[in-house]
Amino acid sequence: MRRVGIIGVGEYLPDKVLTNHDLEKLVDTTDEWIITRTGIKERRIASDNEAVSDLAIKAAREALEDAKLAPQDLDLIILATVTGDMPFPSTASIVQNALSAKHAAALDISAACAGFVYALSIAQQFIASGTYKNALVIGAEKLSAVTDWKDRNTCVLLGDGAGACVVSEVKEGGILSTYLGCDGSNMELLNMPAGGSRMPASHETVDSRMHYLKMRGNELFKIAVKSMTMAAEKVLEQAGLTFRDVDLIVPHQANSRIILAVAKKLGIPEDKIYLNIEKYGNMSSASTVTALVEAVKEGRVKKGDIVLLDAFGAGLVWGACVIKW
Ligand code: UT7
Repeated sequence: MRRVGIIGVGEYLPDKVLTNHDLEKLVDTTDEWIITRTGIKERRIASDNEAVSDLAIKAAREALEDAKLAPQDLDLIILATVTGDMPFPSTASIVQNALSAKHAAALDISAACAGFVYALSIAQQFIASGTYKNALVIGAEKLSAVTDWKDRNTCVLLGDGAGACVVSEVKEGGILSTYLGCDGSNMELLNMPAGGSRMPASHETVDSRMHYLKMRGNELFKIAVKSMTMAAEKVLEQAGLTFRDVDLIVPHQANSRIILAVAKKLGIPEDKIYLNIEKYGNMSSASTVTALVEAVKEGRVKKGDIVLLDAFGAGLVWGACVIKW
């Protein structure tokens, strides 16, 4: 099997900033509640004419430039999203066309907030086996399109953005292990009920606000802490490492209290946690990758460092990955 690593990173965050104070004017909430309960101060909101593919394409171009590869060098594009441009074709096909990545197969995957870790793991398999040489892995979301702006339980949490990585064979380091999991029995805790084959769009589904994200946050919170802790333990054990070996944990950014609780359980000190939730909120599949991209750009990840990705979301699903940078 070939050694596989990340050779280029990129991101795109829409310009429009929505602050907690802006939200105070929309729903019955306060800046103080949002900060103390979630760690979020502001989030980005895509414009009406920006779809997920538009965000993804910009992040992808930056990642390709960073990797010094041309779109024609790509063999595979995997786009993790729950807010694709349309049910089909895949948003990855739209990205493939926009980039003129003529030699690339393309597909979307749906694993919500763990989407990027799932996508990275799939890309790794193709490259490790020698089937493909270069893959582009993207996490991109326009959650504002499925946000109920009348529901204070969810609208204060979500944001839009995209991150991308070019994944290729590397000579040293790279992905040391991945661990993915799912518990479909709790799918009702976080979902968007209408718009699929179970409940196709109708006047009734629109009137009853079923095309928005629904979440039972409090129940999810406890499961998130447990699942992310378990996934981190497993993935490190598989890699033959311990928490003391971790230089930086880059978790999914749903709630800073979840992240700090996980780090505490794992015995990872706070200075080894990367947080950017303050600026962006929860961007589902775009959160972990964007955090990784920013950690790299800020010099928080150095050559030889052990980086632990750890994500959890709707499904319920979880995914963790250990990378030697
Ligand atoms: O992306 C991966 C999956 N997502 C997650 O893992 C998210 C997990 N859940 C969470 O992050 C947290 O549960 C939330 C941030 C969603 C909520 O925080 P919480 O500490 O669990 O609050 P809660 O749901 O227990 O609500 C506490 C109170 C309630 O009022 P009462 O019933 O105590 O009077 C809520 O109605 O806070 C109220 N509340 C708010 N108050 C002001 C809920 N949302 C708001 C709000 N502003 N935006």
